[in-house]
Parts: sequence; structure tokens; C-alpha cells
Amino acid sequence: MEKSEKLKDQCAVVTGANSGIGKGVAFALSRAGAKVVVNYVVGETEASKVVQEIKAEGGEAMIAHADVSNEQQVQAMFTKAVKEYGTVDILVNNAGLQRDATIAEMTLEQWNKVIEVNLTGQFLCTREAVREFQRRGPVPERSSALGKIICMSSVHDIIPWATHANYAASKGGVLLFMKTAAQELAPQKIRVNGISPGAIKTPINTDAWSTKEAEESLLKLIPYKRVGVVEDIGKAATWLSSDDSDYVNGITIYVDGGMTCYPEFADGG
Ligand code: BGC
Repeated sequence: MEKSEKLKDQCAVVTGANSGIGKGVAFALSRAGAKVVVNYVVGETEASKVVQEIKAEGGEAMIAHADVSNEQQVQAMFTKAVKEYGTVDILVNNAGLQRDATIAEMTLEQWNKVIEVNLTGQFLCTREAVREFQRRGPVPERSSALGKIICMSSVHDIIPWATHANYAASKGGVLLFMKTAAQELAPQKIRVNGISPGAIKTPINTDAWSTKEAEESLLKLIPYKRVGVVEDIGKAATWLSSDDSDYVNGITIYVDGGMTCYPEFADGG
């Protein structure tokens, strides 16, 4: 296990850190020295386990319940984090979900749920993080930036995705929310960037990789011929959170094995 001190003494709030990519990011940031606020909405047992495991390997973490689409709960989570760790330096807007249906069959509830969690949730958490960065002020010995925000998006912020219109619309929204926040907040030395994962082995897409046939068919969409793992995202998140990426602002890193490279044209089209 790789360890560093790149995020030493910094506090990172990671939403949806009880499973999947969020959990992988929580471990990665902890291994770079950050104290991690492990947010969850359902799955308290898993969230507590993440905290225990981080502590077992010498890190520091706490659980924080909040539905990211609920304004009061988000505010309470940031209050709790600041009370415990003094401030917040890094926010990873990771919590997200899918409610798949064709457009003809999609209910308004399915549409709203995905937009509320995946997009409005990122706004609410970003707002509280920015307010805390501004309240705390610069601490140059910890980081050149006043604060760092990472918006977890998806390759589906540019690849249209039939039967997932709510999800693709939410991620397309995340892309421009991130860029707008980056533009607006850069003069305050707050960096905002995105990560767009491709197919990563997590509970959200088990059907796409858990059988041999499914995995073979998925690999046709991945030029690099491997399904991603959460560690791939953890590494990108650590880099974007640290001063190693201090001049990087408003960009999205596609961590997707080339999924966005139109693999169906690989033989000349
Ligand atoms: C989705 C996964 C999907 C991947 C690649 C992600 O954003 O959540 O279900 O496997 O994109 O299509």
C-alpha cells in the first residue's frame, strides 16, 4: 500500500464514501495523509467499517450521515466536520445513483431523484465547502489553494446513454457546474476539477462485469481492455487534491481506459 504526506493535516469530505468509488477515494486520500469524513446516506454499517479500516491502517476518519440533496443535512454534516477536524480543505462530490428507464417509461420520481442527488447534491456540498474555505482563510503551509473540490462525473457527461437519460443529463450538468465553479472561484484560489470514470467495478454496475459474457461485451467498449478498479479513481483524486496539480483548474480527467475514444471506429469505421 502506497503512503505519502501530500495531504498531511488536511480534512477531506467524501460523499457516498460507504461503497464503490467513494470508498476507494476515501482510502486513497487517507493514505496521502488526509483526515476523511466518510459520508453516507444509507449503509451506516459499511460507512463505519470504512472508518474502522482507515483507523486500523493508521489513518484518521469519522462517519457523517447526510442526504446530499437535503440542504439542512448537508449543512449539519459540514458543521460536524468542522467541529471535529477544525476545517475542511477538500471536498469530493462523489455521491451518485442511477434509476434507469426508457424515456417513455421514466417516472418523474426517477428523473427527479437522479437530478437531486447527482447534480443538486454537488451544488449543496460545494456551497458549504466554499463557505468554509472562505471562513477559514488561507493556510499556505498546508496547501497553496484555499480549497480543492472534485466533482465526480462520468464518461456519460459526453457519451449519450440510451435508457439512462436522467443520469446522462445529471452528469452533463455536473460538467458545466464544475467548469463554472472553477471559473468563478479561481480568483479566490479555490480549484474545482472533475473526474469522469468509465466502467469501474463497483456495486452500481455489477451486471455489466460480473459474468464472463457481460465482461467480454463491456471490454468491446474499452480500448485498454480492462475494466477499471476504484484504485484508478483514488489515484486521480489524490493528485487533483494535492498541490501537485496546483495549476490545474476546471478540467475533467477521463479515467476510462479510452472509452471516450470511439472504440467502434478502431478498425477504420
Ligand atoms: C455508470 C456505470 C457504467 C459506466 C460506463 C458510469 O457512470 O455509473 O454504470 O458502467 O458509467 O458506461
